[in-house]
Amino acid sequence: MKLFGTATVALFALLAIGNAVAADEHKEDEEGASRNKRQQNEVPVGDRKPYSEKQAEAQLQRTLDKLTAGEGPHYKIVKVYSATRQVISGTLTRIDADLIDGNEEQHRCIVEIWAQPWLDRGHEITFKCRNQPIVLARHSRSVEWAEKKTGHKKHNHHSLDKVEHLFHKFQIKFERRYVNSVERQMRLRIFRQNLRIIEQLNANEMGSAKYGITEFADMTSTEYKERTGLWQRTEGQPTGGQKAVVPSYPGGELPKEFDWRQKGAVSSVKNQGSCGSCWAFSTIGNIEGLNAVKTGQLKEFSEQELLDCDTKDSACNGGLPDNAYKAIQEIGGLEYESEYPYKARKEQCHFNKTLAHVQVTGFVDLPKNNETAMQEWLIANGPISIGINANAMQFYRGGVSHPWKILCEKSNLDHGVLIVGYGVSDYPNFHKTLPYWIVKNSWGPRWGEQGYYRVYRGDNTCGVSEMASSAILA
Ligand SMILES: *[C@@H]1O[C@H](CO)[C@@H](O)[C@H](O)[C@H]1NC(C)=O
Ligand SMILES: *[C@@H]1O[C@H](CO)[C@@H](O)[C@H](O)[C@H]1NC(C)=O
Repeated sequence: MKLFGTATVALFALLAIGNAVAADEHKEDEEGASRNKRQQNEVPVGDRKPYSEKQAEAQLQRTLDKLTAGEGPHYKIVKVYSATRQVISGTLTRIDADLIDGNEEQHRCIVEIWAQPWLDRGHEITFKCRNQPIVLARHSRSVEWAEKKTGHKKHNHHSLDKVEHLFHKFQIKFERRYVNSVERQMRLRIFRQNLRIIEQLNANEMGSAKYGITEFADMTSTEYKERTGLWQRTEGQPTGGQKAVVPSYPGGELPKEFDWRQKGAVSSVKNQGSCGSCWAFSTIGNIEGLNAVKTGQLKEFSEQELLDCDTKDSACNGGLPDNAYKAIQEIGGLEYESEYPYKARKEQCHFNKTLAHVQVTGFVDLPKNNETAMQEWLIANGPISIGINANAMQFYRGGVSHPWKILCEKSNLDHGVLIVGYGVSDYPNFHKTLPYWIVKNSWGPRWGEQGYYRVYRGDNTCGVSEMASSAILA
């Protein structure tokens, strides 16, 4: 499938970046190690030695990137004046530089980076900027480093099996049993690759999201895509939907936050399982919401009915909300979830017309690339079905996700989900304000933020506004 191709390319690009960075880091660690040895042999420990500005700047840049990926602080380099290195229970690099802080203000700073390669604590960084309070920060050790150490079992007994240890914990937490040691080895290899991807997602994150080990951490990207299942719309072809009428907000200015969950229009998080039926969950979520707004009663409707009876879509092999709205109209309505429960596989259609509790008469397409219109429509009507690029979701652990555009192209929608609200996160310490959408996913409540994803709002991140739609209820 076309969408697989592009997603894979994106992941390869990601791996390539990962490897480049990893190689760079190895180099630095090795250089650092041999320099330490040299210094320990040749000069008394504690002596400060000049350090090239170019190398210092590169090291500082890597450090700042890692901090930005974490909780900050955020600085940009303007100029490095000089740097020294010193061995005191690790390597202490002192860099004299002009930096720009998160307020876009420039300061002359001494940055001290204290690396203790044999400890598991990562690097300690101190920013001493003129007329500013001292800022302390820390970033954790890289996965590559741990892996490298795994190759030197004799020398370092502790971190040697960091990857193995993480994998073991992962197996327990997610109850993974592999048929034999060959499969386990293969899964461990995939897991290790995924740890690299996780590190790169964290390093390049522009929002506040954290990426880490999830239940998908032993899956290849192809296997992961089987948990999504959104087809792409045929380009240039009309969807069959009506243009959504977007009412302007009566109060003038839109509220800062809005959440349909607090108004009883969102059912609990469901789990599509190992079945590419996201499209059904996205569609049903929208209808549950509209129905609750209309009737004042939150009822759950049947995804399985769509898997079995919607011949326009392909059950666990994917589908499109556009098709599902039309199919519901033709089938003659939806049964409740309890009457037609979810099986995560296609079965014989056994729809019973006397149990149809909601009718669909058509659907609307929301304008693309206008997230203000989406806010207005959401408030006036209910939760919105959207397509999204799920690249950043495989390892999402929480926070406002704002990945690099190239890692999450808007053209590559592969997952159907539901927008149920929006809000704004303030990070005053890091001078960051992050507007976000609240997205209901269908991977169970253990994934993400109790089953939800917060994605950056305002620049069509991961294509959130590309395929927004909603049913029209009778
Ligand atoms: C359809 O549902 C009604 C109401 O529960 C029931 O009486 C009827 O037997 C069902 N029909 C079939 C074919 O199962
Ligand atoms: C977005 O939609 C709103 C509401 O329909 C409209 O007022 C506004 O002009 C649109 N903005 C753009 C850039 O199209």
